[in-house]
Amino acid sequence: MTDSPIAQSKQAHPNTPIGVFDSGLGGLRVLDRLMQTLPNERFVYLGDTLHMPYGEKTQSQVTAYFSDCLNWLVSAHQVKMVVVACNTAASVAPQLFGQFVGIPFVDPVTPICRWLATEGKYTTVGVMATPATVASNRYQILLDQLNAPINLSQVGCDNLASLIEAGKGHTPVCESLLRQYLRPLQDREAQAIVLGCTHYPYVLDQVAALSPNADILDPAAFMAVEAKRLLDAHQLAVPRTVERSVAEVDYFVTSEPQLFFETSRRMPFQALAMKPPAVVTIPVLSR
Ligand code: DGL
Repeated sequence: MTDSPIAQSKQAHPNTPIGVFDSGLGGLRVLDRLMQTLPNERFVYLGDTLHMPYGEKTQSQVTAYFSDCLNWLVSAHQVKMVVVACNTAASVAPQLFGQFVGIPFVDPVTPICRWLATEGKYTTVGVMATPATVASNRYQILLDQLNAPINLSQVGCDNLASLIEAGKGHTPVCESLLRQYLRPLQDREAQAIVLGCTHYPYVLDQVAALSPNADILDPAAFMAVEAKRLLDAHQLAVPRTVERSVAEVDYFVTSEPQLFFETSRRMPFQALAMKPPAVVTIPVLSR
């Protein structure tokens, strides 16, 4: 496997789309937020459903799949910015961001850690995330870099994202897993719980009901603000001459488009009106 970028990015252009990446349908909630914040933009959504769950793969597997997907977004769609909705990919392989020169990246972990550090509202914070995200220790590393006086507890939630991806988020099995995963965070009296996997906000209602003493934080809101900030800072916002009342999206998955469509069309979104995704075969470049 090589770490070098295959699709060399050129100067990003305001008229090209924003790439949004996730291992599955979790990132659709991030996309929904982005569409509300940036209604004039065009988006390409890629869900690597063929390799989901990323959170239960090795570091080198996640890095390779993620690298191939990034190369596809850049070479096939010339994306001007990438929003990495997937906590696992962003936590395990953040070194890939710097390889696409001239393309700003938004990840889920940095904006919320910055907010936690500057807001200073919480001293004990819990993170629910995939086992791979927890193993990367990314949340702790960033909070340490920001000198945030926060006592962090992280819990790796085996199998939870897969259940939600399969449309089984509101079942007794899922509730019993949530009870099990939330217990250590309750024992440590977490004042806030970060949903550190894009799939978990789909069961936010259950997490909140099981954790009445904690604020539940979804990184998506912080990501949308960061995406707007970066577009403006890099002068990459779509020109004002383009007028869209609703952001446009093309959806792609790497397998099972029908399951993806059927499950996601039942999800509650504000701006996003789901349409069937196309299936794409991502060229394997990094192995
Ligand atoms: N969407 C991924 C994340 O945010 C997790 C799902 C998976 O394991 O693929 O971490």
